[in-house]
Amino acid sequence: MQSEPEASNGSPLIPLCASELGGQDHAYVKEALDSGWVSTAGPFVARFERQLAEYLGTGFAVATNSGTAALHVSLIVSGVEPDDEVLVSDMTFIAPVNAIPYAGAWPVLVDADPDFWQMDVELLARFLADGCAAENGQLRNRKTGRRVRAIMPVHLLGHPCDLDPIRDLAAKYGLLLIEDSTESLGALYKGKKVAAGGMSSLSFNGNKLITTGGGGALVTDDPDRAARALYLATQAKDDPLEYVHHAIGFNYRMPSLNAALGCSQLERIDKHLEAKRRIVARYAHGLGAVPGLTLMPKAPWAEPAFWLYTIRVDPKRYGRSSRELMRLLAGERIQTRPIFQPMHESKAHAGVQALGGEVASRIVAEALSLPSSVGLTEEDQDRVIATIREFGP
Ligand SMILES: Cc1ncc(COP(=O)(O)O)c(C=O)c1O
Repeated sequence: MQSEPEASNGSPLIPLCASELGGQDHAYVKEALDSGWVSTAGPFVARFERQLAEYLGTGFAVATNSGTAALHVSLIVSGVEPDDEVLVSDMTFIAPVNAIPYAGAWPVLVDADPDFWQMDVELLARFLADGCAAENGQLRNRKTGRRVRAIMPVHLLGHPCDLDPIRDLAAKYGLLLIEDSTESLGALYKGKKVAAGGMSSLSFNGNKLITTGGGGALVTDDPDRAARALYLATQAKDDPLEYVHHAIGFNYRMPSLNAALGCSQLERIDKHLEAKRRIVARYAHGLGAVPGLTLMPKAPWAEPAFWLYTIRVDPKRYGRSSRELMRLLAGERIQTRPIFQPMHESKAHAGVQALGGEVASRIVAEALSLPSSVGLTEEDQDRVIATIREFGP
């Protein structure tokens, strides 16, 4: 993360991606406070879950106290077991990759594709065909001998992965499909909402499209998995009076105060999405012709949510690297950020098997996420665009 930029001029800070507070946010949180239901019980949690499931057109939502918690539980209730392997995007925030060892399993990293920056489906297909073998009805990684159990694509930066071929591969090889949709709430894949159907996790931390302060949700159409997730996320209470537990659960439920905020935020999600799309159009118009800058790609299957609008900076043609531009912008009180260190470079996951990785490293070296707050004003955005143009060739 970059540090707080120095004030070299008197301009106010333009943040990378701030929460958009308004509407009924205060009223609903106050209602939760006034009702006395501030913890994980109370009407707002169930109301938020219903509202979210309705918005997505999916059967069930289980609200959690973080997206990471939802990911952890989604792996367990889907059937990932200790020592299994899970194929996961290499170019991602670390949380989904961490969730795999939380469940006792092993990540296998899949590089990004160079065109749309999402999980490389051809590479995945090659690994499943050549790097694995069927044994007693199970798929085993030839290199490690471990059971390959699931694919976890991460819909990165608000843009959906190419899900149909991933679904086909999961069906062909008998693998679970567990999506990380935390950055892509509101995005469409071939006209259908990302995170609808199947098994997916969402995050509502402060910088996401809608926020609950901190929080997440697991969403699924499967009633049994939803019920198991609720049970595990609530300390696995089999008798809540006598405190009898038949499993090791987690304290992962979303508190009511956060859910109250979420109910209000969800009422405005379409407005937030519209704002993101306006921001994208303005960046595309303002930066499209700058030599050495590549705009964020959009696949033919995608109607992205553009959570963080991200460009690539070619140092040879633009004259500066993405990191140099980031520092210069920070001096102008404009907050930008590289995308996440690819997981095959992360010491936290040293030694895990990586399929490719060169594409992710190349994209990450050049990428820079630009201010993308729902509340970004045209005036502030024009300042960002003008400053990037000024620093260019
Ligand atoms: C891809 C991805 N997965 C998971 C998470 C984790 O969500 P949370 O911060 O709510 O735990 C995040 C972001 O914060 C994310 O970007």
